[in-house]
Amino acid sequence: MSLRFEAALSACTEDMVRELEIVLPNSDGAESRLHEAMHYAALAGGKRLRAFLVLQCASLFGVSRSSALRVAAAIELIHTYSLVHDDLPCMDDDDVRRGQPTVHIKYDQATAVLTGDALLTLAFEILGDESYQADPAIRARLVVAMAKAAGPQGMVAGQMIDLASEDVAEPNVQHITRLQQLKTGALIAVSCEAGAILGRASEHQFLALHAYAHDLGLAFQIVDDILDTEGDAEAMGKAVNKDSERGKATFVSVLGIERARTQARMLADQAAKHLEPFAEKADLLKDLANFVIERRN
Ligand code: IPE
Ligand code: IPE
Ligand code: MG
Ligand code: MG
Ligand code: MG
Repeated sequence: MSLRFEAALSACTEDMVRELEIVLPNSDGAESRLHEAMHYAALAGGKRLRAFLVLQCASLFGVSRSSALRVAAAIELIHTYSLVHDDLPCMDDDDVRRGQPTVHIKYDQATAVLTGDALLTLAFEILGDESYQADPAIRARLVVAMAKAAGPQGMVAGQMIDLASEDVAEPNVQHITRLQQLKTGALIAVSCEAGAILGRASEHQFLALHAYAHDLGLAFQIVDDILDTEGDAEAMGKAVNKDSERGKATFVSVLGIERARTQARMLADQAAKHLEPFAEKADLLKDLANFVIERRN
């Protein structure tokens, strides 16, 4: 991993914590438990890869960091909501996330459901707010893109297919690819798209970033599946071997570990190639493709 990439990712992480602290609600009223749980979930750490994608894609077009950060915060809130709900007993039933007890363990299930609801709706409040972006057409495009990626034809659909795929007799690569594109790929893709929308990218630039995000998202999820079988629970901050225990259809269950690894490498290389039109301005995004397959958490 290049030093420049490492520095940029840790600057993103720090900026994201500051930004989230600004946008998350605080109160000492009767609803304070909800607000506390939102802080607990959103500020627990996490790699902030989706935020990094927004910031880096936006910076290709010279978008101000402050407006990109606000949009990045909205995506990280949606991502965090998806994790809070994913960990619930009725979904993956996980007790540890980002190295600490999951929200339903720390609080309770009802609070975890409400925390997810609140993080998701707060994200859209932020996206609609004119203070970070004066142009209402850009705000509307961001809202629609984000709703599509997160909603019933995006991440939520992927989560439904994921649950329905437990103990499917013979899942194939097409099935897994579609499932993962929706469950994980959609939010990764919209992170890049958001940077392009903020930057008023040309059609050609949009397509290049979309192709990058497509391959990156698949590589990312293949590695998530590999880490579930081979990773270290402590380094990952979440339980391992959950997919096989629950009989989940994953890239590893379908391809086997070696082919999954080769496929992830091939997709990461291909992702970086799609960035050629941006020349060296996209170097950090190319580094990210490499980071995604070499990560240990
Ligand atoms: C985990 O995502 C869930 C998946 C979509 C596979 P990340 O690995 O990006 O989680 P954090 O944000 O770093 O905790
Ligand atoms: C979760 O996928 C993806 C979303 C929350 C949309 P996983 O269930 O594979 O994520 P982990 O492995 O629990 O982080
Ligand atoms: Mg899951
Ligand atoms: Mg899970
Ligand atoms: Mg997983």
